[in-house]
Amino acid sequence: MSLSIEVETPRLVLRQWRGADRQPFAALNADPLVTEYLLPLTGPESDALADRLAAGIDEHGWGFWAVEAPGVAPFIGFVGIKSLPPALPFAPGVEIGWRLARPHWGKGYASEAARAALKVGFEQVGLDEIVAFTATGNLRSRAVMERLGMAADPDPFDHPAVPEGSPLRLHVLYRIGRQDWRGLENGDAAPGGTPVAAA
Ligand SMILES: CC(C)(COP(=O)(O)OP(=O)(O)OC[C@H]1O[C@@H](n2cnc3c(N)ncnc32)[C@H](O)[C@@H]1OP(=O)(O)O)[C@@H](O)C(=O)NCCC(=O)NCCS
Repeated sequence: MSLSIEVETPRLVLRQWRGADRQPFAALNADPLVTEYLLPLTGPESDALADRLAAGIDEHGWGFWAVEAPGVAPFIGFVGIKSLPPALPFAPGVEIGWRLARPHWGKGYASEAARAALKVGFEQVGLDEIVAFTATGNLRSRAVMERLGMAADPDPFDHPAVPEGSPLRLHVLYRIGRQDWRGLENGDAAPGGTPVAAA
């Protein structure tokens, strides 16, 4: 696909990756607070991930976009939607995900960008459902899922890419369907689920 979708929100732009994003992306991937619930990445692994995410957007027109906050910073992290890795027990499907540099937490940027990504997924891509998952202890990420109106599956699952015995292996899966999303867009009450307090 030659045309990549680019998304503007009141404060953010979700766009294709640029070469200049690599350095700040490697810096955020080297921050132990950012990777507290993720598998850590070396500099070359971070560059390779940026390349894979950019290639995904080139291929499909959508993916995990680089996020820019105009007037604040040219790159603050990524937010977007992409196809699930086939090894996951609930694949195939499409997940929504996010990772921001620490100075940009606590401003509502992840939720703002994620709402725009859900809209692309349901309205432009035509998806019926979007999922999200994270290590059970990642309360900040779970709080974003709750803010979006996503509902948690009752049973956690072991992430196959996380080594056995790791405290990060147990994950929780959240889902939102097109109908629930549309209801929320129209101002209906959020579907069930107790909001998770952020750590
Ligand atoms: C997960 C992550 C993206 C969440 O970031 P976040 O900043 O907590 O989430 P949001 O952008 O939605 O911001 C919400 C916070 O901004 C506050 N906020 C401030 N100004 C706001 C505004 N104008 N609008 C909305 N919220 C605002 C909210 O009150 C909320 O504060 P709280 O954390 O004290 O409750 C971030 O912690 C991160 O990148 N973590 C590391 C990577 C990671 O774990 N990714 C997920 C892997 S599955």
